[in-house]
Amino acid sequence: MHQFDLLLDKLTLERKVLLLTGADEWSTHPDPDIGLRSMVLSDGPSGIRGVTWDERDPAVNLPSATALAATWDVTTAYAYGAVLAAEARRKGAHVVLGPTINLHRSPLGGRHFEAFSEDPLLTADLAAAYVRGVQSGGVAATPKHYVGNDFETERFTANVSVSERALRELYLAAFEKAVVESRAWAVMSAYNAVNGATMTENPLLAEPLCGEWGFDGVVVSDWWAARTTVPAALARQDLVMPGPDGPWGEALVAAVRDGRVPESAVDEKVLRLLLLAARVGALADRPPVPATTTTTAEDGAALARRVAADGMVLVRNDGELPWAAPGPRSAAVIGHNALQIRTQGGGSATVTPPYVVSPLDGLRAALPDAEITWTLGAVTQAGIAALPIARLTDPVSGEPGVRARFLADSGHELLSENRRSSDLARLGGSRPAGTGCVEVSTRYQVREPGTVRLGVAGAGRATLTVDGARVLERELVHEGEVFGGGLVSPPHASVPVELAAGEVELTARLDGVPQGDGLTLTLGEDPAAEETDAIEAAVAAARRAEVAVIVVGTSPEIEREAADRATLALPGAQDALVRAVAAANPRTVVVVNAGAPVLMPWRNEVAAVLLGWFGGQEFGAALADVLMGTAEPGGRLPTTWPATEADVPVLATAPVDGVVAYDEDIHIGYRAWLRAGAEPAYPFGHGLGYTSWELSGLTATPDGVSVTVRNTGGRAGKQVVQVYLSRESSAVDRPERWLAGYAVVRAGAGRAERVTISLPRRAFQHWDQGWKTEPGEFTVHAGFSVTDLPFAARISAP
Ligand code: BGC
Repeated sequence: MHQFDLLLDKLTLERKVLLLTGADEWSTHPDPDIGLRSMVLSDGPSGIRGVTWDERDPAVNLPSATALAATWDVTTAYAYGAVLAAEARRKGAHVVLGPTINLHRSPLGGRHFEAFSEDPLLTADLAAAYVRGVQSGGVAATPKHYVGNDFETERFTANVSVSERALRELYLAAFEKAVVESRAWAVMSAYNAVNGATMTENPLLAEPLCGEWGFDGVVVSDWWAARTTVPAALARQDLVMPGPDGPWGEALVAAVRDGRVPESAVDEKVLRLLLLAARVGALADRPPVPATTTTTAEDGAALARRVAADGMVLVRNDGELPWAAPGPRSAAVIGHNALQIRTQGGGSATVTPPYVVSPLDGLRAALPDAEITWTLGAVTQAGIAALPIARLTDPVSGEPGVRARFLADSGHELLSENRRSSDLARLGGSRPAGTGCVEVSTRYQVREPGTVRLGVAGAGRATLTVDGARVLERELVHEGEVFGGGLVSPPHASVPVELAAGEVELTARLDGVPQGDGLTLTLGEDPAAEETDAIEAAVAAARRAEVAVIVVGTSPEIEREAADRATLALPGAQDALVRAVAAANPRTVVVVNAGAPVLMPWRNEVAAVLLGWFGGQEFGAALADVLMGTAEPGGRLPTTWPATEADVPVLATAPVDGVVAYDEDIHIGYRAWLRAGAEPAYPFGHGLGYTSWELSGLTATPDGVSVTVRNTGGRAGKQVVQVYLSRESSAVDRPERWLAGYAVVRAGAGRAERVTISLPRRAFQHWDQGWKTEPGEFTVHAGFSVTDLPFAARISAP
């Protein structure tokens, strides 16, 4: 008898079915009669937002997944998961909606920042460690989105056409360890279809997930992904999110009553939900699974800083970095992102950090005696940027921030409150039912008189008044998918306004706001106006300073859920900015603040290039650590970095007639680059660090590789030893070589370490209606990137 059968017996069909759809957007239904409490699910995957999008309820904002992946360090991924679990507990969440472990099939993928790598082994290892970390805190992890959600265009309907072999060797392999080894307690089914069946109804839920892999947890639908009553109920889909409405409810009760769905299917789903509840401590009389971790979670901010530095990839260094102590006497810090650093990508992954250390803040703190200037250089953001909180006063309470008023269509005031941001994403937690109009007003301290473009972002009839005079009135209509898209890239309008120094009263208002999700109101500046002469000003600043640090990048509007990127190029005039500054100051360091590859046509014209990803709330502090050399830029590329778009072997993400054909089969990422003979800007696995390394004494057997790794430089450092396999004259189509194992080595100056990297059997196998090992010899290669492999040895197939 199943351990929860007695509880199940107490439930009527109606009550059972009720449990299988969310109670609201983020939680499940309780059933006090059987001691079942409500469970809260929270995004994820790089911070725990909780049940509201509200700046008054901040969350630790860890670096995004590409930064974590660039550490190549499973110990760090575990620690990252443990911090998320601690955050989840703090926020009352039982289930973390992460990790995102779709693969980097195309660098244009909108959620590339949120996923780990183009390589299934590296992804699988990091995901498994993340899951272990989260669940060590008694909180469920939810690997997502199962499976084939490697792009965003037409994501609700696109059908991925993919071979069984590519599924097994790449896309499913990315999930397998998290389920089989780390025993994930939940998995999220994706929006898209694979080979003709939408994922909430797809046979891949049964096999391999539940059968072969033994998954005993809950399959949670992606939000609104479950669309049918009978096929989804007959599939191994357990929980429909969000609620309270959805395709199940009364319709499922009726389907059971008239025999279209066996009641046993409902029972099994409920039993799995009860098991999840028991695991996360939401079932009375059953304590939560004890935390298996022996250490308590690291401080979130400290981890954020450590991951940001350890994931930073130094791809070019012309002797510039690290800066010799005591550091430069003057620095020109340049770039929109240097001030407004992008710590995370857009969409459901977004959390509100308690604070953000910008590169400018980080450098000023690290070099207190240096003369440090900031100039804009070029604009990154499209849309309206929030006004700086330090210059806003709530006109009603006199507190910092703004006054937010929520009004009914009748004009009746439903709520008036102080808020600490002029960017109310989703209007936060307190939007009352029946809100038809939202208004934000503030007294804004103008520092420098002149013309600025003030604007409003959000959907509805927008008005903006300045000292009581209406300067803008516009109907703003969101086009495209609201959820995700409407939130991070809402429609906006702006007007030039002449402001005198001193205080000015601003009011932004949206009438006729849409009901439901995706609702946002931002009052702020449209930075596009600031571009005139910005490059000249940056060049002048760079000329006067000892060093120039340019932070280029993208933004959460560009790298986000619900849309793929249109281009890999940096937005705006950033390329021209870098070239102009580099020509003015030979000591120009470029920091790339993007979650995914961007083109860097100037990369060989600057002194150093650091890839910083979406580095989380401590980004600026970590950057200063790396520039000053108190931390090593420990990152190695988890994904190939292209030089031009034309070279990218797998680029297109848009479905053709509703189908995304994965025609390249098993050849994505570096495998595709090798096959095409194309040369990227920087290969998979590449990264320089601050010291030098030597490998020697390689011995190899089918079980593993041992090698001596010596730090031949003058300072301690980190290296990632990578092992690839290849196979000559194979009867099977194979990548030229593929990652089979790796080890993170940290060693002091002059020190050597003998490392052993085990080779899993799977590394030798290919899928052909089952896992097969081709007999004969394989070659094992060891080195520091997929194209820097000085060592090779022959071994027999195990
Ligand atoms: C995303 C998921 C996310 C969910 C809840 C969806 O749109 O695809 O990753 O967990 O929303 O926010």
